[in-house]
Amino acid sequence: MRYRWSVPILLGLAVYAAGAHAGDPAAGRKKAIQCQTCHGLDGLSKIPEAPNLAGQPEIYLRKALTDYKTGARRNEMMSVVAPSLSEADIDDLASYFGSIRIEVTPP
Ligand code: HEC
Repeated sequence: MRYRWSVPILLGLAVYAAGAHAGDPAAGRKKAIQCQTCHGLDGLSKIPEAPNLAGQPEIYLRKALTDYKTGARRNEMMSVVAPSLSEADIDDLASYFGSIRIEVTPP
């Protein structure tokens, strides 16, 4: 019976960890309109300076946006865009771009 308490605690932590940043991809799609000039609504870059966002790991996207927002990462374009995003916006946008499916064909 050693696991009697640890199982619900671990499940609780897993639910908490997932729930704490559960972005809504549908809401993210609407918010992504402000990103489309540079990153595309499909997450594929539309200007040479901007990276593709489609299919990037959600955790990475969330971190990048948070870093631009706090100033830990700076870029003349993103440092203008990110500060106005709320934490929920960041979760939704990361969820949207992260859930776009991509296919790759290595050379
Ligand atoms: C005016 C053009 C422009 C707009 C609008 C814009 N971005 Fe960016 N974004 C860039 C550029 C340029 C970079 C590369 C910055 C760098 O080198 O750090 C970038 C980088 C990023 C990155 C980091 C990607 C990586 O691979 O590290 C994320 C995430 C991102 N943008 C998300 C967004 C989101 C979400 C929006 C809309 C809310 C948005 N951007 C709007 C130009 C833009």
